[in-house]
Amino acid sequence: MRDIVIIGCGGFGREVHDIIDALNAQAPRYNLLGYADDSASEQNTALVERRGSRVLGSLDAVLAQYDAAEFAIGIGSPQVRKKLDTKLVEAGWRAATLVHPSATFGGDVRIGEGSIVCAGVRVTTDVTLGRSVHLNLNATVGHDVTLHDYVSVNPLVAISGWVEAHEGVMFGTHSAILQNLSVGAGSVIGASACVVRDVPEGVVVKGVPAR
Ligand SMILES: CC(C)(COP(=O)(O)OP(=O)(O)OC[C@H]1O[C@@H](n2cnc3c(N)ncnc32)[C@H](O)[C@@H]1OP(=O)(O)O)[C@@H](O)C(=O)NCCC(=O)NCCS
Repeated sequence: MRDIVIIGCGGFGREVHDIIDALNAQAPRYNLLGYADDSASEQNTALVERRGSRVLGSLDAVLAQYDAAEFAIGIGSPQVRKKLDTKLVEAGWRAATLVHPSATFGGDVRIGEGSIVCAGVRVTTDVTLGRSVHLNLNATVGHDVTLHDYVSVNPLVAISGWVEAHEGVMFGTHSAILQNLSVGAGSVIGASACVVRDVPEGVVVKGVPAR
């Protein structure tokens, strides 16, 4: 069993706990030590405790108290995730790559360290996921897609073939990205947007068609 800590006890952090439980139900793999969170609310702390785990303390407190272990960042923001990932790696911790057993993959899919793939995700063929990419519930990723480091794909997003999303892009829930397009680093695609043209870096686009 490998010791693991979830970073962030908000909703997504607790969904990451679900993935760990699903993996352990197949074969015991992870010993969840608990959660690290710099600003755990009373509500989230209680929800964590209700499912039999606990908030261990702030990230600094956990780094000081525990030997290096594996971590999974349950935080959707690409920018926050990059910061925490860098800090944990510098402290000698290792990012776990977590894939829910119900996700499916085609041939030649490469998954970067620290990526998290939730239940119901469909990834087809020749797909490359960078470091710490999040694929949330029921997202689809078509052939020949490249998602660079720290991309977040929210639930029900549909990414078509040959799309390239650069570092730190966030795809809002239920957005659709048409084939052969590129999304610049740090850009945000609004919920339910339909992206029909390349998106430059560092912008927010929304609507149908996305502007
Ligand atoms: C687009 C988004 C990033 C916010 O962008 P923003 O420019 O900061 O938006 P604001 O909240 O300031 O709203 C600005 C305007 O855009 C509209 N707007 C916000 N989100 C929109 C969306 N997804 N599609 C269309 N219009 C949207 C608002 O209604 C508002 O319109 P108004 O000026 O006519 O009142 C955000 O609304 C969004 O869609 N995030 C994705 C969230 C998500 O995926 N959640 C799931 C988590 S698992």
